[in-house]
Amino acid sequence: MFARSFSTIFGAAVSFALAVLPAHAADDIEAKAQACAACHGANGVPTDPKTIPIIWGQQQSYLVKQLHDYRSGDRDDPIMSPIAKQLAQEDLRKIAAYFAAKSWPVQSAAVVTAPPPTGITQCQPCHQPNFAGGPPAPRLAGLSYEYLLASMRSFAADARANNEDMPKFMRALADGELEAMARYLSGL
Ligand code: HEC
Ligand code: HEC
Repeated sequence: MFARSFSTIFGAAVSFALAVLPAHAADDIEAKAQACAACHGANGVPTDPKTIPIIWGQQQSYLVKQLHDYRSGDRDDPIMSPIAKQLAQEDLRKIAAYFAAKSWPVQSAAVVTAPPPTGITQCQPCHQPNFAGGPPAPRLAGLSYEYLLASMRSFAADARANNEDMPKFMRALADGELEAMARYLSGL
């Protein structure tokens, strides 16, 4: 399953490179944003929500910071780091604003709703009571269970260290608690 989604993503990365390289697209944010749809979805629903997060309607400041961090290496990912490095520094804010202004996609009917797990209230001062996020914290409500759990585990393992607080919070929780929180948040 991993191999299949990787090859899907890799194929999309190649078409992404072809789509961004032409110089005539250099100052066209709309055209650059189109290239992101290969993975993040033409309607805001990622092509593989288990590994690719929703960026439509995500907090603008968070999107800018992530693109910046992928470029600088503070957040490392074999797919997003090279893509972010192809973007011009002065485009990061505009691309983030473009996606932040879109509407978060509607949940599919198949989504599992779960009761709020113990300890979830400690996340709300930053991620907001409804988990829609607020600067600098991202929206968590409605991201997939798999993506949420993977990002929480990578903070806990210090594999993702582009923030000082999150690794501490995640290390203090048992893996079962991370699973319960990811389950709850994905159903919101
Ligand atoms: C080839 C597939 C692919 C393309 C094309 C792509 N992305 Fe991504 N994107 C991903 C994957 C996979 C992740 C998750 C990486 C990780 O776990 O760090 C991601 C993560 C992100 C994140 C972090 C979101 C979060 O919730 O933390 C942002 C922001 C982002 N992408 C923006 C973009 C933008 C802007 C473009 C177009 C310029 C783009 N991506 C093009 C696959 C892609
Ligand atoms: C002190 C504020 C704060 C608290 C409390 C907090 N977070 Fe965060 N969280 C953040 C910030 C800021 C980020 C963005 C970090 C970055 O720049 O990548 C983040 C990122 C995340 C992400 C990554 C989302 C993505 O799209 O990749 C997840 C998942 C997350 N937090 C879950 C939680 C959970 C679950 C809790 C409660 C147990 C929690 N956070 C508590 C501030 C906080």
